Amino acid sequence: MREDQYVKPKLNEARRRSRTEASVLDFTIPSETLGIGQGKTYVLQTYGCQGNEADSEKIRGLLETLGFSPADSEASADLVVLNTCAIRANAENKVFGELGRIKQYKDQHPGMIIAVGGCMPQEEVVVEKILKTYHQVDIVFGTHNLHLLPEYLAGAIRGTKVIDVWSQEGSIVERVPLIRNSGSKAWVNIMFGCDEFCTYCIVPYTRGKERSRQPADILAEVTDLSARGYREVTLLGQNVNSYGLDFTGKTYRFADLLADLSAIPIERIRFTTSHPKDFSDELIEALAKGGNLMPFIHLPVQSGSDRILKAMNRKYTKEQYLELVRKIKTAIPGVSLTTDIIVGFPGETPEDFAETLDLVEKCAFEGAYTFVFSPRSGTPAATMADATPAAEKMQRLYRLNEEINQGFAAGNRRFLGQTVKVLVDGPSKTKKNVLSGYTEHNKLVNFCGPDSLCGSIVPVRITGAKTWSLDGEWQDGK
Ligand code: SAH
Ligand code: SF4
Ligand code: F3S
Repeated sequence: MREDQYVKPKLNEARRRSRTEASVLDFTIPSETLGIGQGKTYVLQTYGCQGNEADSEKIRGLLETLGFSPADSEASADLVVLNTCAIRANAENKVFGELGRIKQYKDQHPGMIIAVGGCMPQEEVVVEKILKTYHQVDIVFGTHNLHLLPEYLAGAIRGTKVIDVWSQEGSIVERVPLIRNSGSKAWVNIMFGCDEFCTYCIVPYTRGKERSRQPADILAEVTDLSARGYREVTLLGQNVNSYGLDFTGKTYRFADLLADLSAIPIERIRFTTSHPKDFSDELIEALAKGGNLMPFIHLPVQSGSDRILKAMNRKYTKEQYLELVRKIKTAIPGVSLTTDIIVGFPGETPEDFAETLDLVEKCAFEGAYTFVFSPRSGTPAATMADATPAAEKMQRLYRLNEEINQGFAAGNRRFLGQTVKVLVDGPSKTKKNVLSGYTEHNKLVNFCGPDSLCGSIVPVRITGAKTWSLDGEWQDGK
């Protein structure tokens, strides 16, 4: 056990941190770990946001560098890694359920190694629960030290249980080997952590303070992706609009980064997530130039009530958000906007919820992730008085989703009869002999065509609009 290295994450410590430029470390793999996975197989399960998807590409890269190869299922795997999410209780419950399910395979296959990483271990209560109840787990690591997985695995193979979670972020680690899930679309982290401390949210505690990657490292990664035939990159950060605020000695912000990236020959650049309070006029101007910057913005609002927005520490009002949406829609005609909304935040009244519905109607969102508030231990909102019954919160969620679905459908209908550009992902998940992909406005399109189109951008005429997707005809040779 390396419990000596397990420094308990402390809420107050997280709140006291100040902005400083992060140091950069070049990854090297310890030579004694090379080959430890030879002849062994693994399964990697990923929960949570795109940040975790991107981390999983690094975990996969590390595992395969060590010699591990993918297994068909958990039942036969020598190693199972769960990259976890702590954002809501149900995300955590899924992981605990999965640990129970995997235990039966370990009982039949005692050499199996189970590793739990990602955001959940950054919570003290989770590590304690694993140590107390889930003895089948061999490795626990957090979000700040995934690059040390090779050493942890070497330890576990020798029979040592490894618990290593850092309560504070270290350097930004560059050049960790990664295996991307797609050959045409790539995630690119531009920053890590979050300094916002929205009162409901656990991310600032699990991901540490905000740190921006150096522009040169990001530009080099995207240039390399472009050279290797990638068509689309999605820039990742919890609040991409505050990119660069931690730099000392240079003024280089998100709008500057976008301007530099847009000069790279890659067809599509997207980003997520934008915090409305930091969405600058310079950024709107940069996006309005179009080119490879896509006309699609995910702009989480969380609530339409000023009182609730204040209690959430979101630092904008309903009117400021509406004004921002007006500016964006004027500058980027036809832009598609989506959002995130939480219902049932402590103290939310029917009047507050009505403000949210009103805002949704005014913004004409074309999609949203909607959630019922889930109290996260250690965050300020978890101890706020909350009198609304769970059933009432569910009713608000249903009501909100009705509204959101209408917007989703209307957002699809506006493309009927148009020919749009689709980046083809592959065969449709639901329909046989059908390809699917996404338009510049991030609409899902299904159409018939040869598999050889996968990974390219093709013209498709839209012939049908459903709530969640569009149907179209490939415009062969046009
Ligand atoms: N950094 C991003 C989102 C991170 S989490 C942003 O600020 O927009 C993704 C979404 O999960 C949030 O936008 C929020 O709507 C939701 N969420 C976060 N914490 C939650 C909680 N405790 N209960 C319910 N939903 C939550
Ligand atoms: Fe959470 Fe707010 Fe940070 Fe988003 S901006 S990750 S919601 S604290
Ligand atoms: Fe979940 Fe961590 Fe992302 S809590 S949403 S995986 S940052």
